[in-house]
Amino acid sequence: MTNATLERIDSLLANLPKLHIWGGVPQVGGLNRQIADRLVGEIASLGTPAIAETGAGATTLLFLCLEPHELISIAPDHALEERVRKEADARGIPIDPLRFHRERSELALPRLADSGQRLDAALIDGNHGWPAVFVDFCYLNLMLREGGVLFVDDVQLHSVAQLFHLLRQQEEFELLGVDSKLATFRKVLDRSFLPDWRAEPFIRMNSLTL
Ligand SMILES: C[S@@+](CC[C@H](N)C(=O)[O-])C[C@H]1O[C@@H](n2cnc3c(N)ncnc32)[C@H](O)[C@@H]1O
Repeated sequence: MTNATLERIDSLLANLPKLHIWGGVPQVGGLNRQIADRLVGEIASLGTPAIAETGAGATTLLFLCLEPHELISIAPDHALEERVRKEADARGIPIDPLRFHRERSELALPRLADSGQRLDAALIDGNHGWPAVFVDFCYLNLMLREGGVLFVDDVQLHSVAQLFHLLRQQEEFELLGVDSKLATFRKVLDRSFLPDWRAEPFIRMNSLTL
């Protein structure tokens, strides 16, 4: 990483922008230094990766600081996109790799997967309810290459925790760590989909015997 990159990241984390308007009040999303350290460490080890994230905000700026090959950011929020672009411009963060999809990930991701898009890293941080979390996972996993990294934010939520518990027992994924509320997995097997329930220990363990 160059000094310019490190300086941009430091300055972003020292002064995180309030890009979200929740309850009528501008707010920082969930990004904090612990999460940022993990995101930066893993992404930096991937060279110039293709990244996708569901849910945009400060993470979009952080990923852009790392000058990826491309950054696909998906959020159904036009005003948020404008705020992200304005903030990147004000901070001198290169914005060329950004491809912002202003729509729900449930609609954008199947199209991207169908187009043959491949990913080196993916962050699930959009709609945290069901089934969105699993829809995001399904299509991001399809596009994620073997050796790629999957970040799952907000594992404290029941909806996201179920994905976390499922993946930590799957042989397709290796848990690299949990930092604050972010879980990080490496995809270790070149499989586009998870297997049927018989090869899902979490489902077997929690199923009823009738
Ligand atoms: C927790 S915030 C993301 C925080 C962001 N990563 C950051 O660092 O600021 C959740 C985001 O998900 C977006 N979102 C809500 N529903 C979505 C959906 N169906 N598909 C994609 N994004 C969605 C919201 O617009 C919001 O920006």
